[in-house]
Amino acid sequence: MSNQLDKIKELVKLRSEARLGGGETSIDKQHNKGKYTARERLAMLLDKGSFEELDMFVKHRCTNFGQEKKHILGDGVVTGSGTIDGRLVYVYAQDFTVFGGSLSETMAQKICKVMDLAMSMGTPCIGINDSGGARIQEGICALAGYGEIFERNILASGVIPQISGIFGPCAGGAVYSPALTDFTLMTEGTSNMFLTGPKVVKTVLGEDISAEELGGASVHSSKSGVTHFTAATEEEAIATIRKLISFIPQNNLEEAPRIACTDPIDRTDDLLNDIIPDNPNKPYDMYKVINSIVDNGNFFEIQKNFAKNIIIGFAHMNGQSVGVVANQPKYLAGVLDSNASRKAARFVRFCDAFNIPLFTLVDVPGFLPGSGQEHNAVILHGAKLLYAYGEATVPKVTVTLRKSYGGSHIVMSCKQLRGDVNYAWPSAEIAVMGGAGAVSILNGKEAKAQEDPKAFLAAKEKEYTELFANPYVAAQYGYIDDVIEPRNTRFRVIRALSQLRTKKQRNPDKKHGNIPL
Ligand code: HXC
Repeated sequence: MSNQLDKIKELVKLRSEARLGGGETSIDKQHNKGKYTARERLAMLLDKGSFEELDMFVKHRCTNFGQEKKHILGDGVVTGSGTIDGRLVYVYAQDFTVFGGSLSETMAQKICKVMDLAMSMGTPCIGINDSGGARIQEGICALAGYGEIFERNILASGVIPQISGIFGPCAGGAVYSPALTDFTLMTEGTSNMFLTGPKVVKTVLGEDISAEELGGASVHSSKSGVTHFTAATEEEAIATIRKLISFIPQNNLEEAPRIACTDPIDRTDDLLNDIIPDNPNKPYDMYKVINSIVDNGNFFEIQKNFAKNIIIGFAHMNGQSVGVVANQPKYLAGVLDSNASRKAARFVRFCDAFNIPLFTLVDVPGFLPGSGQEHNAVILHGAKLLYAYGEATVPKVTVTLRKSYGGSHIVMSCKQLRGDVNYAWPSAEIAVMGGAGAVSILNGKEAKAQEDPKAFLAAKEKEYTELFANPYVAAQYGYIDDVIEPRNTRFRVIRALSQLRTKKQRNPDKKHGNIPL
């Protein structure tokens, strides 16, 4: 046999060795936990046969604690590139079968390499996390590796989309890479994220709490808002990431892919003429409005279980990707609070960074009052949303359905925040505050002097409501561009978006603004 053939055989052997990661026993353990391996995950994520692996022969360089005798080809992460629906992406997947996916110096270098390539090529970077954190044997070198990754996450922010899948443990400072990325997805029951695990919590605070209760998918999707998506299975998780990619551009210099629109752009819907209840205090379901307006009723919701009083997500309008932000009257009357504000603000900023037009549906009675909100800095959180809308230079089309009162009117993409096209339905009520509140301030003293204060205030409230609770006062000043028939909303919004396709707007040059974080 020729020398050359022997060398090729050795290559094939080394490759299959690397593909086995931590070995069959560890792979079985991973499968028994209901989890796939790093390579299996990438195979599902990427178009069939498109994966190009990098750095398969990398080994760690640690010589502490007998590590010099334990080498696994590729170390604890699988990295490379591939395509999703034909579009290039860079990827990495931590391999729990190798030292528990713990991060070594060389592993960090592998991850940084694909992050750098994604930045150079202008493609999304997707990381799948499943790791015991910093490789304990490597000490400060592992920490330095995290630092290198975080810095790249920060520099890539707003340049390329970054997506994190959490498919296993993600603890300690390791959580900060996903937190810095644009979207995070957690698998239910098999993943968790926390800065300090249950054992430390018990030692420091004496609190008994399970890993799931402390930082499982359900907690982070409903309470903290740390994760944007959850999935019952890894298959579902991967499908969600692929779907997300379909709505977003490759980088901040491109537009999201336009798809063929099979839904007539002039489709009207009588349901919308009928959806606002006669009683202004009665709720209706904003999802019905969104689904009626967007292409084929396909709405891809983000953070659906967190701050349900505001809805965010992607949809297509005439095949163009748009970011939808909508108050939800069915939940807390659609009021803005701290969580709703920060949820929507981050989404608005993502859309603005990546050239995705904003379509806003308004029905907001105001900001949630009370010490709970005030003491939790609703002023700063509300200001985030205000800042995000006011800073955004992408096309902004807004439709006010019903209430739009006070500060929340301004925050929700009003004309003065450079809203491009602001429509209202005839049912819109655009004013400083609702009738009851207004007359109690304006006519409270006067009422006390009346024979029947209640009847007096009711009459005043009626007068105020008739005068202000409509869209025409705002339209009279040009703060609303047109009052439209609800059933025509789809067509009017599509036409507005099409006019705005060539919109050019720049903010003043600066190093960066100082958003109230
Ligand atoms: C080295 C590690 C490791 C680590 C796990 N392993 N974590 N090796 N460094 N951090 C190894 C285990 O020794 C074991 O090796 C294999 O991975 C699988 O781990 P198991 O414990 O058997 O798995 P499981 O029971 O599923 O438990 C998973 C786990 C647990 C919950 C993640 O391993 C764990 O608690 N690990 C430590 C987590 C941690 O405290 N990390 C440091 C966080 S601080 P063998 O050879 O037996 O198969 C941190 C700072 C980051 O990360 C700062 C960034 C700024």
